[in-house]
Amino acid sequence: MICPVVLCGGAGTRLWPLSRKALPKQFVPLIDGQSLLQLTLARLKLLQPAGDTAAGARAVCVAAEEHRFLVLDALQAVGLRGEVILEPVGRNTAAAMALAALRAPAQELLLFCPADHHIPDAAAFAAMVQQARAAAHGGAIVTFGVHPSFPSTAYGYIQQGAARGDGSHAVARFIEKPDAARAQALLLQGDVLWNAGIFLCRADVLLAALQAHAPDILESCRRAMAGATQDEVFIRPEPTAFRACRAESIDYAVMEHCQNVAVVPFHGRWSDVGSWNAVAELTPADAQGNRIVGAGLAVQAQDTYIHAPHRPVVALGTQDLLIIDTPDAVLVMERNHAEQVKGVVAQLEAQQ
Ligand code: GDD
Ligand code: MG
Repeated sequence: MICPVVLCGGAGTRLWPLSRKALPKQFVPLIDGQSLLQLTLARLKLLQPAGDTAAGARAVCVAAEEHRFLVLDALQAVGLRGEVILEPVGRNTAAAMALAALRAPAQELLLFCPADHHIPDAAAFAAMVQQARAAAHGGAIVTFGVHPSFPSTAYGYIQQGAARGDGSHAVARFIEKPDAARAQALLLQGDVLWNAGIFLCRADVLLAALQAHAPDILESCRRAMAGATQDEVFIRPEPTAFRACRAESIDYAVMEHCQNVAVVPFHGRWSDVGSWNAVAELTPADAQGNRIVGAGLAVQAQDTYIHAPHRPVVALGTQDLLIIDTPDAVLVMERNHAEQVKGVVAQLEAQQ
C-alpha cells in the first residue's frame, strides 16, 4: 500500500495574474474546469488497490493554513479520504515532507507529489510508480526522471548510474537547478534526466536522510509534530516550533547529498505548468499557432495565446505574444519573457 502525500504549499507566482496568494495555481480551475490539485488527486486515487472502496482510498495533503478549505474541497470532489497537515507558514519542501513522514508508520511507502503538475496519462503514471516500488521497499529514495528537451535552469538534473536490478537505476549525481552553462554541459553529456519532482520512499528512509543531511530541519519538524493538534481531518503542527524551521527544498537539503537515491525514467507526457508558455501549450494551436481560451479573438496574428475567460480580448497583427486577462489585472508579454513574471510580481509587491 502506497500513501500519496501531495505538496500543496507553493505560491505559483510565475502564473500571475491568474495565480494569486488567495488562490495559487494548484487551486485554479485550469484544465476543463478542474484544478491541477484535483487532477493530481484523481490520478493518485487510481493507484489505490482495486478492492478498496472509494471511502477507503486516501491521501495526505500538506498545505498552508489559509488554503485548508480549497484542499478539502478538492479531496471531496475526487472522493478521497485524507488528512491535511496545515503549515502556519511555508518552510519549503524538506519541512513539508518531514511533517508527513513523521506522522506515517515507519515502513510505509510515501509517494510525494507536487500538487501542480500536469500528467495526462494516469495509466503511465501508475506504471511508473509500480516500477519504483521494489527499490523504495529496499531502502532507496526513488526519483522519477523525464527526458530533458532544453537546458532549463528551473529543474533538478539526475545523472544516471548503473541499473540496480530492481527496475531502477542508481543516481550518480543529483544537481538542483544548475546555471545555464552547467545545464548546457549536462545536456551534452547525454545521460541526464530532469527530476520530475516526485519521490517514492519509506517514511523511515526519508527521516534517516533528513537526520543525516538536514538534522536541524528534522528536529524543528519533530518538535512541531510532537505539539501538533488535530481538528477532524486538519492536523496543525505546533506553530512556534515550525516557524523556527529552516526553509530549504528537499532537493538542496537531501537529494544533492544522499547516497541511496535511485531513478525510474518516465516516458509519458509531463509538464510542471511552470510558466505561461507551459499553460499555453495545454490549449491546441490553430493553423497560425494561435491558442485561445474563452472569448479571445486573434486576427492576422501568429503564435499568440489569449486567456480571456471573462470578456472579449482581441489581438490584431500580433506575433509571439501571451495575453492574460483577469478581472483585476492584465498581463501582456512576449513569449520569451515568460520566465520573468516571478520577478515582476516581486516588483509589484514592493510598489504596494
Ligand atoms: N506544503 C508545502 N509547503 N508545499 C510546498 C512548499 C511548502 O512550503 N513549497 C513548495 N511546495 C510544493 C509546491 O506547491 C509544489 O507542488 C512542490 O512543493 C514543489 O515545489 P516547487 O517550488 O514547485 O519546486 P520547483 O518546481 O522549484 O522544483 C522542484 O520541482 C522540479 C520539477 O517541477 C524540484 O524538485 C526540482 O528538482 C524539479 O525538477
Ligand atoms: Mg514547481
